Amino acid sequence: MNAVILLGPPGAGKGTVSEVLVDQGFKHISTGQLLREQIALGTPQGIEARKRIDHGNFVPDEVVIGMIQDLLEKAPEGQKFLFDGFPRTMAQAEKLDDLLEQVKGNLGRVVLLDCPDEVLVERITGRRSCDKCGSVYHMKFNPPSQGEQCDEEGCQLTQRPDDTEETVRKRIGVYEERTSPLIDFYEEKKLVEHIDASQSIDEVRAAVVQQLG
Ligand code: AP5
Repeated sequence: MNAVILLGPPGAGKGTVSEVLVDQGFKHISTGQLLREQIALGTPQGIEARKRIDHGNFVPDEVVIGMIQDLLEKAPEGQKFLFDGFPRTMAQAEKLDDLLEQVKGNLGRVVLLDCPDEVLVERITGRRSCDKCGSVYHMKFNPPSQGEQCDEEGCQLTQRPDDTEETVRKRIGVYEERTSPLIDFYEEKKLVEHIDASQSIDEVRAAVVQQLG
């Protein structure tokens, strides 16, 4: 089993890049998406997660580690995992190392999407998504063809509750404090590939595919 980590602040484009890597055989694991599924189902885990996510705070380490452990233990041999938004704390990074060792997996690369804060804020506040098919748009950079309607489903697009300017600035601060130390952790292991994520969607996707190809 092989794993690649997509590391970067909110709005850097982790989800957008993941779409093309899925076409290359990666299984995309977004802990944010897994948590939103629990919220939509109204599970006790989802109810607890929502209180934190809506205010821009992290969900406790043991919750996300539990979700990842379950996935890794059930993974078929030869599976290629793309982690989007995991790990986000040193405790999660260290636990991932342990889990990979247990399942004889290998962390091949950490792709770091670098992007200035003001670009992140514009991307996040302009993001809209389709609740039916999960398509993600941006009202300026990747707009739907008609108003705020999904091109696939024709339904009204929605904005994530944690995508307000105030909450995204909080999320960027939490990233700086709790996630950016992971850059040095993985630099020491010589795993980090820096990508200029302020480029266009097509340019960023092409740069990542080239790094992982
Ligand atoms: P999560 O959903 O992972 O949020 P995030 O990391 O803050 O990242 P985003 O999904 O907001 O942004 P992205 O980088 O994927 O950007 P996207 O491609 O969509 O997590 C949500 C919350 O869950 C967290 O805040 C936390 O509370 C909790 N959580 C999750 N994982 C956790 C963990 N491991 N531990 C603890 N808590 C956890 O792009 C954004 C917009 O920009 C889109 O509209 C897109 O169309 C546009 N865009 C993308 N790329 C470009 C480009 N190159 N040019 C122009 N526009 C672009």
